Amino acid sequence: MAEVKLVNVSKSYDQAATWVLKNINLNIAEGEFAAFIGPSGCGKSTLLRMVCGLEEITSGELFIGGEKVNDWPPNERGVGMVFQSYALYPHMTVAENMAFGLKLAKADKSTIDARVQEAASILQLEPLLERRPKAMSGGQRQRVAIGRSIVQQPRVFLFDEPLSNLDVALRVQMRQELSRLHRKLQTTSVYVTHDQVEAMTLADQIVVLSPLQKGADSNLEQVGKPLELYHRPANLFVAGFIGSPKMNFFDGTLEEAGEELSRVKLGSGEIIQAYVNTASIKKGDAVVLGVRPQDVIAETNSDNVVTGKVVALERLGAESYIYMQHDCIREHFTVRVEDCHQRDEGSAINIEFPAELCHLFNAQGVAFERTRVPEFD
Ligand SMILES: Nc1ncnc2c1ncn2[C@@H]1O[C@H](COP(=O)(O)OP(=O)(O)OP(=O)(O)O)[C@@H](O)[C@H]1O
Ligand SMILES: [Mg+2]
Repeated sequence: MAEVKLVNVSKSYDQAATWVLKNINLNIAEGEFAAFIGPSGCGKSTLLRMVCGLEEITSGELFIGGEKVNDWPPNERGVGMVFQSYALYPHMTVAENMAFGLKLAKADKSTIDARVQEAASILQLEPLLERRPKAMSGGQRQRVAIGRSIVQQPRVFLFDEPLSNLDVALRVQMRQELSRLHRKLQTTSVYVTHDQVEAMTLADQIVVLSPLQKGADSNLEQVGKPLELYHRPANLFVAGFIGSPKMNFFDGTLEEAGEELSRVKLGSGEIIQAYVNTASIKKGDAVVLGVRPQDVIAETNSDNVVTGKVVALERLGAESYIYMQHDCIREHFTVRVEDCHQRDEGSAINIEFPAELCHLFNAQGVAFERTRVPEFD
């Protein structure tokens, strides 16, 4: 086990003509589980491959266990990488696949046998030790790939979307197995995923990356505990990325600044109150109001409402999603309701925005501090 530290790590594939990652600063504590998430192409795999040693670090420093390892080859870093594609040797049995790395490292036979046995028992692969990969399911193959990493007893596990080739049911099961595995082994882990549910459920710390914008000095958007990112997203990017369905955003201006409670005027004239500290800006400044589909209350006559027109309805049984139109929103906004009643297309519905659940962002997309966030830990 070891801590992983990145200091201003940056990557360019073409001699600094274009950058993929810039100034990534991170501390992953010993035994911690960190997840990298972000849209396709933002550099998650590149970052993981730099930690592994498969990709050169263009600038910045990488420390594993307190030692600078920028120039160390992968096999000396003490990391175990698990890929999405499993990358098993087809002509070898499960046991041989798991033993292969240790054999190369010239470990003695009794050590190899003991480690393979232990990994097989942790991953429930004992009945399959003599099978070859082609005779196994995707989930079983991925377990072998993880087993191959476990036998090396790495200081750090690195996972690149290990579950994305599996079907939904198997993914849920494997997610729980990975969580159990981490509790048992307590090995520092870095996990790349597209799937925010995987990140939210597995990670102690989530690292949100965005595609690097021209002129930006970094594409690290926020690092935090899962619920911290959900309740206190630092900016519009994180607010829109964490949580499903996506947070709704309305354009408006500040009507009344406040340290605890602020009033926002939407472009269409409604005044919405939000428990957010906007003391740093003044009346008339542009703001974006954010509210999650599950945080609004549909069809009420109370205060703090906007009225929208129903565009579409998705009824899922236990809940429904109403898609609505409003002047201050580009496409549609989404409202989640816990019923499956029909709503007519084109009908107008009042939606209440509970003031303590509203988010506010400035014109650059930076979040203002919420003053009444529900309790979470
Ligand atoms: N060997 C390479 N040479 C040049 N550009 C590359 C190379 N590998 C990756 N890139 C570019 O770097 C960027 C980041 O790629 P990367 O694979 O790290 O993204 P990712 O976040 O893992 O995406 P995905 O979620 O689709 O796996 C992409 O724009 C990609 O085209
Ligand atoms: Mg990738």
